Amino acid sequence: MSTKLIVGNWKLNGGLSANQALLDGLRDGLGAVRCRAAVCVPHPYLAQVQLLLAGSPIVLGAQDVSAHTAGAYTGEVSASMLRDFGVRYCIVGHSERRQYHGESDELVALKAKQALAHGITPIVCVGESLAQREAGQTEAVVKRQLAAVIHENGHCISEIVVAYEPIWAVGTGITASPEQAQQVHAVLRAQIKAATAHAERVAILYGGSMNAANASDLLAQPDVDGGLIGGAALKAADFLTILRAAS
Ligand code: G3P
Repeated sequence: MSTKLIVGNWKLNGGLSANQALLDGLRDGLGAVRCRAAVCVPHPYLAQVQLLLAGSPIVLGAQDVSAHTAGAYTGEVSASMLRDFGVRYCIVGHSERRQYHGESDELVALKAKQALAHGITPIVCVGESLAQREAGQTEAVVKRQLAAVIHENGHCISEIVVAYEPIWAVGTGITASPEQAQQVHAVLRAQIKAATAHAERVAILYGGSMNAANASDLLAQPDVDGGLIGGAALKAADFLTILRAAS
């Protein structure tokens, strides 16, 4: 069994028949998969996809979680509700939520805390914009974003997953080079090592136009422990290729 982790983020995509077709397309090739794997689906499809995943090596994930345990928070979904559906992983702090919903580092840290408190592994997304990279601010940005999560969850930071998702690579078809990814992953690894004696338990995923063609080179990097996949996760053949590259 490989230690790599591959997570598909379906974002605002899918539908009852599309979900069925995608997972049927994956099913025939899953026998060769020897890595950890999950798909993070839109909340309305949690029950359907949980049933479709039965018996497969792929587990269920969510794309967001409330920072609150319960209460008057219309439209939000709590960690306990996600756990009721068998959710095992939850993305928090995705760049699209930081951008479109104004999610702060502190809010992301509280969302990670809620996930951890309910036995769900948070996938904490960090990443810089092109302007920040060009200004030489990449390390400062990702370390600041992760530091907020460590500050709030230091006692169990070894139970999180981190995803380095350079904003300029998300959904653009422009992928960080393996060297660029490794450089930032090494910085994140050092930050995690300074925060916990069990840093080796923390998987650091790369996300941002990882696809069937470039997955092997990215996953070959010593500090790239897996991938957080968007577009390529919606194509059964491509996602299977990535899963095999991680196996
Ligand atoms: O969460 C993963 C996503 O942001 C990456 O998207 O389409 O660049 O693989 P994509």
